[in-house]
Amino acid sequence: MSLVVNIYYTGENGSAREFVKEMISRGIVDRVRAEEGNKRYEYFYPENDKETVLLIDCWDSLEALDLHHKSPMMKNIAELRDKYNLKMKVEQYSEFNGNIKNFEDIIRERTATRKFKEDKVDKDKINKILEAGRVAPTAKNMQPVKILVAYSDDALEKIDKVSPCRYGAPVVLVVCSDKSIAWSKGGDSTYEMDASIVATHMMLEATNIGVDNIWIKMFDKNELKRVFNLDDNTCPICLIPIGYKADDYKGNPMHMVRRELKDMVEFI
Ligand SMILES: Cc1cc2nc3c(=O)[nH]c(=O)nc-3n(C[C@H](O)[C@H](O)[C@H](O)COP(=O)(O)O)c2cc1C
Repeated sequence: MSLVVNIYYTGENGSAREFVKEMISRGIVDRVRAEEGNKRYEYFYPENDKETVLLIDCWDSLEALDLHHKSPMMKNIAELRDKYNLKMKVEQYSEFNGNIKNFEDIIRERTATRKFKEDKVDKDKINKILEAGRVAPTAKNMQPVKILVAYSDDALEKIDKVSPCRYGAPVVLVVCSDKSIAWSKGGDSTYEMDASIVATHMMLEATNIGVDNIWIKMFDKNELKRVFNLDDNTCPICLIPIGYKADDYKGNPMHMVRRELKDMVEFI
């Protein structure tokens, strides 16, 4: 199990970014990275908030994090934080590396992978992922979804012709929905919703069994229909490249950037 700590530092007139500059120039960042058990210590700059920087801080174990908290460096960091008068928000959660996961971990661990190894995914694992899609709910239980598993070199080449976003994945699930089967009324149809739920089930199952993945919208729908000979009613909704992230893939920084619950929820 690893521990991930996200720290949001918020200041005024660019002070949070100045703080990071000083953390780096004084060698504090390098020294923390060299501490026993540190897996990641990296700053990100959220696009939508120029006054905030996000520190992603990841440790091998609770013991390693405890030692870091007791290290002399913490005093320097606190002094700098006071110097730049920064507010701090901390989120901490655990990331399981093994097979025992619970739902809370899976929904947090799922993240967009944009660089895959060549290693294929076992057919047993692919079937487990597909099975999670099979049991997903659909409107009026119409089950309009069809999934193409692009597995052969030929199929993967075709994917590359229609999308720049395979990211080297050895398998791509093409999630389609049949408009003639999906529930519809007065021009209103749930075909996209049904497919989105199926796709989400599959992404979460993939994460559950340690298969990395990403949702891809960026592909040429008409061209995909042509190269895979899809009939008029079968609409491709998304691609899900699956596989194992490359060793040097650093993760998607956007994964940690989410609005606060209070900004997206209203009890009425
Ligand atoms: C509907 C949808 C469409 C997306 N399309 C693309 C895409 O075309 N290319 C891509 O690289 N990522 C795509 N993504 C991935 C998102 O950028 C990513 O999920 C988002 O930054 C949140 O990061 P996380 O998945 O790591 O939590 C898409 C995600 C969703 C949900």
